[in-house]
Amino acid sequence: MPKIPISSPLRASTKSGSVFTIRQATLKDLDALVSLRRAEQTEFGQTDHPILDKADRVFSRWARSRMKAKRLVAWLAEKRNGTIVGCGCLWLQPVHPNPQRKRTHRPYLLSMYTDPKSRGRGLATRIVLAAMDWCRKHGYHTLSLHASDLGKGVYKSLGFKPTSEMRARLDDPNLPRSHARL
Ligand SMILES: CC(C)(COP(=O)(O)OP(=O)(O)OC[C@H]1O[C@@H](n2cnc3c(N)ncnc32)[C@H](O)[C@@H]1OP(=O)(O)O)[C@@H](O)C(=O)NCCC(=O)NCCS
Repeated sequence: MPKIPISSPLRASTKSGSVFTIRQATLKDLDALVSLRRAEQTEFGQTDHPILDKADRVFSRWARSRMKAKRLVAWLAEKRNGTIVGCGCLWLQPVHPNPQRKRTHRPYLLSMYTDPKSRGRGLATRIVLAAMDWCRKHGYHTLSLHASDLGKGVYKSLGFKPTSEMRARLDDPNLPRSHARL
């Protein structure tokens, strides 16, 4: 598919004439956010409906309280007919202060999802750009995320680089425990 230049970051149109708008979500959009997140979880392999239903309720409560507290900002990609086909959320995650970072929140991007039929049109790219602009405007100098394989190209093309974060699987029985001899 030919690339459409991102001349207008908040409006994307395809060769077939579809027009998408990228806009900030409000609390009224919570159901759409929850349903796109559910589609993402399903795509990642979770097909158990009771688990998905519970995850929807938990995420909805979590997102609502953070949106109200202005700790979660979300963007949506919306078709001209009002159908919402993509999203991304920016969470101001609590962190400890340090000499390089006096603030006690850092922006973290999550729940990036585009409906499969609308992929490859630059919608996620535009949502990430909107989040990056928001961070700059609010005085944040970094933006972090964990990338899926499908997302890596999008983030890389926008200048994201792997960091030195390390992680241990604490349920790994082969890992040392405090009572074990080291
Ligand atoms: C990852 C994901 C959100 C990307 O959504 P998207 O809207 O298709 O993303 P974009 O269209 O901006 O970019 C996708 C590709 O199209 C290309 N592209 C970007 N703008 C384009 C444009 N205007 N026209 C055509 N192609 C474009 C991008 O370069 C990218 O190419 P790459 O895959 O080779 O890197 C989507 O694949 C998805 O929902 N995946 C499942 C959930 C997931 O993995 N979420 C990410 C968690 S980190």
